[in-house]
Amino acid sequence: MRQKVLITRKPPTYLMEQLSAKFDVETWDFEDQPIRRDVLIQKIDKIEGLLCLLTDTIDNDLLQKSDNLKVVSNLAVGYDNIDVNNAQLRSIQVTNTPGILTETTADLTFALILTTARRIIEASNELRSGKWKTWSPFMLAGMDVHNSTLGIIGMGEIGTAVVKRAKGFGMKILYYNRTRKKHLEEEHGIVYTNLDELLQTSDFVSVLTPLTPETQNMITLNELKMMKKTSILINTSRGGIINENDLITALKSEIILGAGLDVYEQEPIPLDHQLLSLPNVVTLPHIGSASVQTRMKMWELAVLNLTIGLEGGTPPNLVQK
Ligand code: NAP
Ligand code: GLV
Repeated sequence: MRQKVLITRKPPTYLMEQLSAKFDVETWDFEDQPIRRDVLIQKIDKIEGLLCLLTDTIDNDLLQKSDNLKVVSNLAVGYDNIDVNNAQLRSIQVTNTPGILTETTADLTFALILTTARRIIEASNELRSGKWKTWSPFMLAGMDVHNSTLGIIGMGEIGTAVVKRAKGFGMKILYYNRTRKKHLEEEHGIVYTNLDELLQTSDFVSVLTPLTPETQNMITLNELKMMKKTSILINTSRGGIINENDLITALKSEIILGAGLDVYEQEPIPLDHQLLSLPNVVTLPHIGSASVQTRMKMWELAVLNLTIGLEGGTPPNLVQK
């Protein structure tokens, strides 16, 4: 009997062919929308392998129904959408796609730093709406990125890749991380601080930890009040790490200068959300790793993880908890 696989979005054709040569593969392919929960529930007890996206919630309710499931391969490095503890209790392997998206996500993080600091979106909109009447000394004046201080919360793969870009801009780099990384301090001249000091002294604060029970709501009004009035908060990790209501308060009352966001508590963020009406916020639709090359690599890695797991091996990107 061939093992059954469900893929919750349409994969590239050559990978579909590769998987179909080994397994009975079914895909959810409906207008590029996430698989409906009732469909996932209905199918979960019939499959051995699941290749899912960060838009799919693989919680214990679902896992309890998954009698045959052996591997859950996530097409993302973040795996907060999956109840890994309960999967492991059921001997289900959970995998992710680390490493190959690091540089692309760091590019986007740095793009958000530059875009918010130099008010790029606002400036482009002003020009197109006919508000550009003349050159003027302080028209759309933003903040300098070069020689400023960057504070990175979460010095993992992406954090380290952001450091390399920031060094090119002559930035002073502080970091706060669960584990102190002295080898990175020596290699890049970065400085370890506690969270409060990082918030108090940085011009840009970049959040790059995973979303976990420990990091959820790590940044609330209390933390935002510690930041400089001229500082900018960048979030390219997960929405739940920053309390959005508190962020709105901080932006509206000029507690901080601005924010650059790629991720939200609710995705897609509702169009009437207050964050979308604030001029000092740059908002992107979760495109951190969205280059064609990187997305292809992510699909390839997710397929590899799934295949190795289903063939009885240890996938290269097994999530360890
Ligand atoms: P990573 O290499 O695992 O780095 C995460 C870092 O966060 C690690 O250094 C870890 O510390 C640190 N950390 C974890 N919990 C912490 C805590 N409670 N306090 C302080 N630091 C903590 O992961 P990555 O590849 O850099 O990715 C980071 C996150 O970015 C992902 O989990 C994902 O949510 C997000 N992401 C978003 C996009 C996007 O499209 N916007 C794309 C890719 C990734 P240790 O060194 O002690 O483990
Ligand atoms: C994207 O958000 C990822 O975690 O890969």
